[in-house]
Amino acid sequence: MSNYTRKNIIACMGDSITFGHGVSATRERDAWTFVLQRMLGDRAEVLNFGINGASASEGCPESYRASGLLDEALGCGADACILMLGTNDTKERIWNAQAYKMGMRGIISDVLRQTGSGTQPPKLFLMLPPAVFSMEYGQTAYGVSAEILTEQVIPIVEKLAKDYCLPVIDLYTATKGHPEYYLEGVHPNAAGNLAIAKKVYADIIEWLKTPKEGPKNMTDYKSLTMSVKAVTAECPHFIANLANTAALIWEYMDDINWAGFYLIQDGKLVLGPFQGKMACTEIEIGSGVCGTAVAQEKTQLVPNVHEFSGHIACDSASNSEIVVPLRKDGKIFGVLDIDSPSLQRFTEEDKDHLEYLAGLLELNLFKE
Ligand code: SME
Repeated sequence: MSNYTRKNIIACMGDSITFGHGVSATRERDAWTFVLQRMLGDRAEVLNFGINGASASEGCPESYRASGLLDEALGCGADACILMLGTNDTKERIWNAQAYKMGMRGIISDVLRQTGSGTQPPKLFLMLPPAVFSMEYGQTAYGVSAEILTEQVIPIVEKLAKDYCLPVIDLYTATKGHPEYYLEGVHPNAAGNLAIAKKVYADIIEWLKTPKEGPKNMTDYKSLTMSVKAVTAECPHFIANLANTAALIWEYMDDINWAGFYLIQDGKLVLGPFQGKMACTEIEIGSGVCGTAVAQEKTQLVPNVHEFSGHIACDSASNSEIVVPLRKDGKIFGVLDIDSPSLQRFTEEDKDHLEYLAGLLELNLFKE
């Protein structure tokens, strides 16, 4: 864990399941983070920031944030973080849905605020904890609740992933129906850890293969993000903040001909603050690239607008486009739309940065 200098550092943050408690005697061989390291070889360095007994719940003495390990994990310059907490939170003396949600939100925000030496925060994967099983007399070990895990923790993590546009690694489905994967129904044994490592590998390999520094993309997102943060943090005016954000995007991004916002009003998207030529004032949900982003609740990365069925041409110079939904408490209230005169102007990297920017706007547009 001492070498923090290599590229593609993957920080695994979690409880004893991440630590490898179920295989403590052979941990460096069998715990899933170590198995994953062997699977990835030179492509990454996998760091284990698991801590026995950790929970996410805010205010809980065993909370991951209070342990200090979160700060260590954030300080390692990770390119990706894999976060899995929730199993310990299901214990009767700890469980409080609100505290769990708030704790998870806090950790997620801490991770997404990290920009380290690069321009991008780490890629954050949320993991659904593995299933748990009762071994004797219907009791689950350590007072962990299978019911709370299934009915509350898992839906909360899925909702958080949706709210923050984060990928989910579903260990629950990967382990459900496999009591033989466990030491005592809670901690995975060597077979369980191997199954977990395989699932994590399968779900992160695409991200790992994506080039991290595209030579074509010259946007200084670090400065753009810092400027948007600085300009919007103290200003209480919603429209003013959107107007300045559009101006900053216009200033920082090359090769674009329109940048601005559409906001949902009376069930339609209505033109908001923007830079560029005048544009259509109303877009139906489900229509065009903007309306599709709302209907599908996801970013639309359109390499060639002429091949996008239903594209609404406001400026005939546009050839490619990206539209990112804006959310408040998970509910979409508008979109950020950017057009370019070049084909294939926007990349997955732009998408990641602009989604991060959309998350930042959520924090700064709706200050309590
Ligand atoms: N092209 C968008 C319409 C808005 S303009 O690009 C500013 C769309 O298809 O939704």
